[in-house]
Amino acid sequence: MRIPLIVGNWKMYKNHREAVELVAGLWDMIEGVRGVEVAVCPPFTSIPAVAQFMVERSMTLGLGAQDVFYEKEGAYTGEVSVPMLASLGVGMAIVGHSERRQIIGEDDAVVAKKLRAVINGGMKAILCCGETLEEREAGGAFDKVGGQLDLDLEGVTAEVADNLVIAYEPIWAIGTGVNATPNDAQEMISFIREKISRLWGKEAADDVRVLYGGSVKPDNASSLISMPDIDGALVGGASLKASDFAEIVRAAIG
Ligand code: 13P
Repeated sequence: MRIPLIVGNWKMYKNHREAVELVAGLWDMIEGVRGVEVAVCPPFTSIPAVAQFMVERSMTLGLGAQDVFYEKEGAYTGEVSVPMLASLGVGMAIVGHSERRQIIGEDDAVVAKKLRAVINGGMKAILCCGETLEEREAGGAFDKVGGQLDLDLEGVTAEVADNLVIAYEPIWAIGTGVNATPNDAQEMISFIREKISRLWGKEAADDVRVLYGGSVKPDNASSLISMPDIDGALVGGASLKASDFAEIVRAAIG
């Protein structure tokens, strides 16, 4: 039984004051909602304030980071480690978001190292994968996503299935207002689950949660999340508005 998961990726928005305001507004709207796990991923600088506020208000919201470095400590200027985040109460980290792959230039070798660091550090990893519009139009979407998973999951074994979340985020759907159709998202996510099944067996594949991300909004969330293999959503723009995000959270419980 996979509990639906809705994660807000705030990207490079919300300083620490704005972030606390947003999480307070969100909690007011979803405090009583059951049957869905919810998490937010503020920018690094806002994590301490949000973490403290969540504890003060006894919020049962998950707290995640948008990225992390793969070493525990050392001379890595500008980087932040898994233990540093864990000490703040961060329980999950996004790895391999397409914006980091495309803008920052992270390749699959780096993503694979980050994934292992997150999981070995006892956190949940949200591994992002997805194809560009050109790749989809050329009929290469499945090869692209399958190839990313092969490289990013190298050396990772079935025992960590509980700590792995995969997010299928077609790049052409991110921030564009054009979401994948529920059928297209379902088709890819079922392909991802089959891939996990081949790698780790059916039991693990049944346990791994696979999210959809890319222009998830209150008016399309329910049609996407109700597909059989889609276990929730990774939400960008709509997670910055408490009422929109709360609606998406409610859509996950039908
Ligand atoms: P949007 O919801 O703004 O399209 O962003 C999706 C995303 O990149 C989440 O990680």
